[in-house]
Amino acid sequence: MDLTEHSFLQVFFIVLWIMMPAYLSNTFAVITGGKFPIDQGKIHSDGNRILGDGKTWSGLIGGTSGGMLIGYLQLNYGNAIIDGIAGTNNYNFWGENELIIIFLLAFGALLGDMTASFFKRRTKLNRGDKSPVLDMFDFIGMALFLTLLFDYEWLKSWILDGYAPLFTLLIATPFLHRGVNIIGYKLGIKNEPW
Ligand code: CTP
Ligand code: MG
Repeated sequence: MDLTEHSFLQVFFIVLWIMMPAYLSNTFAVITGGKFPIDQGKIHSDGNRILGDGKTWSGLIGGTSGGMLIGYLQLNYGNAIIDGIAGTNNYNFWGENELIIIFLLAFGALLGDMTASFFKRRTKLNRGDKSPVLDMFDFIGMALFLTLLFDYEWLKSWILDGYAPLFTLLIATPFLHRGVNIIGYKLGIKNEPW
């Protein structure tokens, strides 16, 4: 994949496309979530919940599966779409170990979200309280970190290809995150618009 031969706008869409399993896994977690809290209601030594009722097994499993389903659909039926939008030509977006990368993106996003909840509880933020910077980048940060651990070459092959990929992640992530959450809120599947 050579991103430098594409325009900035094309790279923008390619990056969103690659990261789609990570961007959407939390949306699925909101839908399937709410059952079987991962911390089992346990309290940390500081007197607050370890993670809180917003992090559940049903959300983690449903969200990971949902994100992977999106990736699977992209992989098998998506090329006509992305090729049309971004001028790509049957690119191998997720590399040789595509299913593992897609899993790491979907699961990593939720792991990042969970890690953030752990730190939010440590700073006395209640479930659902706003923590703007953390909420916007936790999921994408952990998703990318897991792929880095697993296949550094794959990540490097596109994320450092010019300035556009990193720029897209930094700028588009907050907007997309907020946009998806506002939609979820309006549809009544999310309690807060963030
Ligand atoms: N959710 C879940 N399990 C997860 C992630 C999300 O069940 N691993 C569901 C929960 O019902 C949660 C909702 O999705 O309330 C929204 O997710 P999020 O905004 O991440 O959780 P919050 O309720 O805001 O909790 P926190 O303050 O810990 O982020
Ligand atoms: Mg939240």
